[in-house]
Amino acid sequence: MTTDFRATKALFELPEGVTYLDGNSLGPLPKAAPARMARAMTEEWGEMLITGWNKAGWMAQPATLGDRIGRLIGAPEGTTVLGDTLSIKVHQALAAALALRPERKVILTDSGNFPSDIYMAEGLIEQLGRGHELRVVAPEEVEAAIDEDVAVMMITEVDYRTGRRHDMPKLIARAHEAGALAIWDLAHSAGAVDVDVAAADTDFAVGCTYKFLNGGPGAPAFIHVAPRLIDAVRPALSGWLGHDAPFAFEPSYRPGAAIARMRVGTPPVLAMAALDSALDIWDGVDMADLRAASLALSDRFIEGVEAACPGLELATPRDPARRGSQVSFRHPQGYAVMQALIAQGVIGDFRAPDILRFGITPLYLDEADIDRAVEVMASILRDGSWDRPEFHARAAVT
Ligand SMILES: Cc1ncc(COP(=O)(O)O)c(C=O)c1O
Repeated sequence: MTTDFRATKALFELPEGVTYLDGNSLGPLPKAAPARMARAMTEEWGEMLITGWNKAGWMAQPATLGDRIGRLIGAPEGTTVLGDTLSIKVHQALAAALALRPERKVILTDSGNFPSDIYMAEGLIEQLGRGHELRVVAPEEVEAAIDEDVAVMMITEVDYRTGRRHDMPKLIARAHEAGALAIWDLAHSAGAVDVDVAAADTDFAVGCTYKFLNGGPGAPAFIHVAPRLIDAVRPALSGWLGHDAPFAFEPSYRPGAAIARMRVGTPPVLAMAALDSALDIWDGVDMADLRAASLALSDRFIEGVEAACPGLELATPRDPARRGSQVSFRHPQGYAVMQALIAQGVIGDFRAPDILRFGITPLYLDEADIDRAVEVMASILRDGSWDRPEFHARAAVT
């Protein structure tokens, strides 16, 4: 398959005058999504009422959409399911992994991990009360920190601040050698890089669908469990829809078959409708093409900014193999610079203390968009307009 990125770009609603470099935070609206959601509302919810669970296939959505995402991350059919938020999926994966290694006490992660993953680990440790330890090391020290005490290595593949990409196959091989399990957080990988969870032999993978996959604000998360483990995993969040026979209403929990046991409660049907239409776009995308286009656009952006924008320091690794699909620069007044960019229609975002983040998304960004972003950034740095007082006022969401 050769991906036609001009065709994919035409499938998104991109406001006039906006260059959108924040798809690593929230993907834009697929043009087909409003009609798909309207259908889910009127023809399904409106006409079918409760029969929609069967007639419109609502109950099967977590599995069918899970398989569509599975294709994008190299997961075999029947090993990925949707639901809840990513923080919940992190909890599920972590609890399951710890239960599979009862004699070990260390959860290994790195300081580049997203705070919610670390907070969820802290909460689980307290809840279990069995003396687990969270070992947080620098990203470049993860490999050396894997030892026989580690129950599970929980790593976010692509750093949300810098865009640095871990060599996950290598780390997983090392973890397995030491008898540990591996959880990948693919929040900044799914739909962004050529992930292959099966080839890397990961034990668990989790991720969200509102960033590079364009499922919409609050779209449900996914979890993948390796087929060799799925029947051994006992879910910590034993909700009724992960039960083997939910509609038998048995008095006690029995885990469902395979990945179905990672479901918890009622799926968010309307949010799934929006995600379903976003995933239609991915049917025409080859992940190798996407990765090549993402790196070419990223290189163009880095070269352009470095040539035209003195004062910005590249925070993303220069080596393409060590990058995700995001380019970050440091600037001591990064917040104000980003607000000035947004005011000119170039939308990225800011992460404290000094990082300007730009998501590189070939599905709807082309070379002209990259060149415009560079031009606008160069002009606001040149004329100092970023330093106006209004650009220093902090909003709640950065
Ligand atoms: C790497 C990573 N993990 C976890 C989360 C938390 O996701 P959620 O808010 O869906 O629980 C995020 C959110 O951006 C993230 O970037």
